[in-house]
Amino acid sequence: MSVSAKTWGGRFREATDAVVENFTESVSFDVRLYRQDIAASQAHARMLAEVGLLTKSEAEQIVAALERIREDIEAGRMIWRPELEDIHTHIERALVEQLGDVGRKLHTGRSRNDQVATDLRLWIREAIDRLDGLLVEWQRAFLERAEAERDVVLPGYTHLQRAQPILGGHYFCCWIEKWQRDRERLADCRKRVNVLPLGAAALAGTSLPIDRESVRRQLGFAELCRNSLDAVSDRDFAVEFVSALSLLAVHLSNWAEEWIVWATSEFGFLELPERFCTGSSIMPHKKNPDVLELVRGKSARVIGRLTQLLALLKGLPLSYNRDLQEDKLAVFDASDTVESCLAVAIPLVRNSRLRPDRIAKHLETGFLDATTLMEHLVQRGFPLRTAHETVGRLVQECERRSCQLAELPAEVYEAIQPGLGTSAYSVLGVERALAAFRSSGSTAHAEVEKQIAYWRQRLAMSPPGEPV
Ligand code: ARG
Repeated sequence: MSVSAKTWGGRFREATDAVVENFTESVSFDVRLYRQDIAASQAHARMLAEVGLLTKSEAEQIVAALERIREDIEAGRMIWRPELEDIHTHIERALVEQLGDVGRKLHTGRSRNDQVATDLRLWIREAIDRLDGLLVEWQRAFLERAEAERDVVLPGYTHLQRAQPILGGHYFCCWIEKWQRDRERLADCRKRVNVLPLGAAALAGTSLPIDRESVRRQLGFAELCRNSLDAVSDRDFAVEFVSALSLLAVHLSNWAEEWIVWATSEFGFLELPERFCTGSSIMPHKKNPDVLELVRGKSARVIGRLTQLLALLKGLPLSYNRDLQEDKLAVFDASDTVESCLAVAIPLVRNSRLRPDRIAKHLETGFLDATTLMEHLVQRGFPLRTAHETVGRLVQECERRSCQLAELPAEVYEAIQPGLGTSAYSVLGVERALAAFRSSGSTAHAEVEKQIAYWRQRLAMSPPGEPV
């Protein structure tokens, strides 16, 4: 391309080497900022007219031409050229083609440095709002399962060893809590995203009488970046965004891992919908949880993107450096990856079912009632440590006889504590053990009902069968 075709071609005698043009271009990925770039340019143009740097008619022409450019991009009519570097230059270039000298005025009082920071903040703000919508649906899917499977008794695990019984409702509400915190982290990050850099210009601001407050209002930012150097140099908001996504991805991976295990024939706790499973090209009987495995696998990518962003920033001196161009790859990919996981996981959860028949077998063994028995002994006046040892010995006895605590004869209990004999049975067996829970936040029926009612209200969902 000729020297003068570049927006910055003025001081160059030599044309840029093609290999450099291909190396430095970003339009192949920052094209995704076109809507944000146009919206920010329209706000900027209107502001320039307000302060007298453009006439009203010039601003109107620019706003309208930008609208046409948006349509061209959406209709696939824009020709992308690596020598035009990035989305900002392409749009400005198209504007100049349409409006000539009027178009050449748009860049007044701004730089691509504050422009790209603004576009990226707008993009992330929208992504957060979209993700929050998905996360509400995601939580609702768990709430539906909590309501439908509230009374299914599951073995609760620690160390992947059977520990104590829990209710299905408790299990599903546990996940809703985690998704809630993921939403809160994104919402918190949004506060720091929602600050306007435009007006920082290249790094030091501008001598032109711009009105940043007008642009802020037009674009719906909550505040202005106070310091122009800071405005163009940092991407900490992007790190926060991808960090919140990484933790969400880790939660998604935890959930996927659990359900992969639950869907095995060894566990058999869960029936996955066939249309969310895949088969094997060689083993005709297979029904594989590939979707869950990919949710687990893709979390690695999101974490990788976080690491990429942190490493990208750590060596940068103030203020803008071209390294920052790479930020978008990390932000877009992390965001796309998490969105795609949620989009497939929501219907998967809605259409999966626990298998109480299969789960029941795992409730009979594993001494899920041992801890409740110990607490029963405490209520009967034994010191906790004594009760612990006692139940430990009872478990030993059960193992010797290959039986459950509820199957030990009353004499055995009687031998430990005269008078205890029959009262121990009141907490033995998973159903009785469950009935004994009472602490706030526990798996007690009443506590689980409270949680379900809380989330039903918070997620504004009517109980099944009632009109929304
Ligand atoms: N494409 C660039 C980026 O994403 C835009 C800013 C370029 N600024 C510059 N002075 N070269 O960071």
